Amino acid sequence: MNAMVKAEGVHKSYGAVQVLKGIDLEVAPREVFCLIGPSGSGKSTFLRCINHLEKINAGRLYVDGELVGYRQKGDKLYELKDSEVAQNRRDIGMVFQRFNLFPHMTAVANIMEAPMQVKGESKAVARERALKLLDRVGLADKAENYPSQLSGGQQQRVAIARALAMEPKLMLFDEPTSALDPELVGDVLDVMRGLAEDGMTMIVVTHEMGFAREVGDSVVFMDQGVVVESGNPREVLTNPQHERTKSFLSKVL
Ligand SMILES: Nc1ncnc2c1ncn2[C@@H]1O[C@H](COP(=O)(O)OP(=O)(O)O)[C@@H](O)[C@H]1O
Ligand SMILES: [Mg+2]
Repeated sequence: MNAMVKAEGVHKSYGAVQVLKGIDLEVAPREVFCLIGPSGSGKSTFLRCINHLEKINAGRLYVDGELVGYRQKGDKLYELKDSEVAQNRRDIGMVFQRFNLFPHMTAVANIMEAPMQVKGESKAVARERALKLLDRVGLADKAENYPSQLSGGQQQRVAIARALAMEPKLMLFDEPTSALDPELVGDVLDVMRGLAEDGMTMIVVTHEMGFAREVGDSVVFMDQGVVVESGNPREVLTNPQHERTKSFLSKVL
């Protein structure tokens, strides 16, 4: 079976600053893959490379067996056109720390927007799916509320529903609960746990070690642009092998 995501020697620099220094990893279909590491280690950059918001400088990155951003012909790589990149990006849902909902649209309209605009879906079909998704994230009664009328945790759950509306094959979460008040974190993690149970392939950058341990199939500890240690979350989080991992975990656990 193809990996859903495969990184081979992925390098990324901003000018002279090397941010990713050869990332190798594989995410299997239906896997919940947690990415942990100190601030500045390159976690967000790596996620952004996966959906081609950033170009990599060296190495290979595949999503569902296809090169991200390039087409290979023989030994040569050809850059995809913007329209082709956009097409591939549709299959990848992304949820950020900040929810970025459209403030002038209700919850249900936020979720309907991309399927209608990008896929040309009818209003009726988009609305029916959006309402189902709101129910799935526990917000059936908030369909007609505007973002300003929702808590941060509720907004984040709408943002997750909005990403799901495009029926992605892969979901990327970049510290989805870091901006939330502590009492709102649980509901968002519960939605993510539900997605995992339904078999969604997920890469989750998080500082929630409880989530990583209970829901994660694997965990990767990244530091300074390299993978330091990876494996089963229960093993890596309770019995880290590297000093850097130990030091990081002692600060966040
Ligand atoms: N657009 C950019 N231009 C220049 N440097 C950047 C840019 N984005 C990120 N960086 C740098 O790359 C490093 C890794 O950042 P990031 O991927 O955001 O780390 P993390 O998500 O692990 O905190 C940081 O040193 C950051 O300053
Ligand atoms: Mg980050």
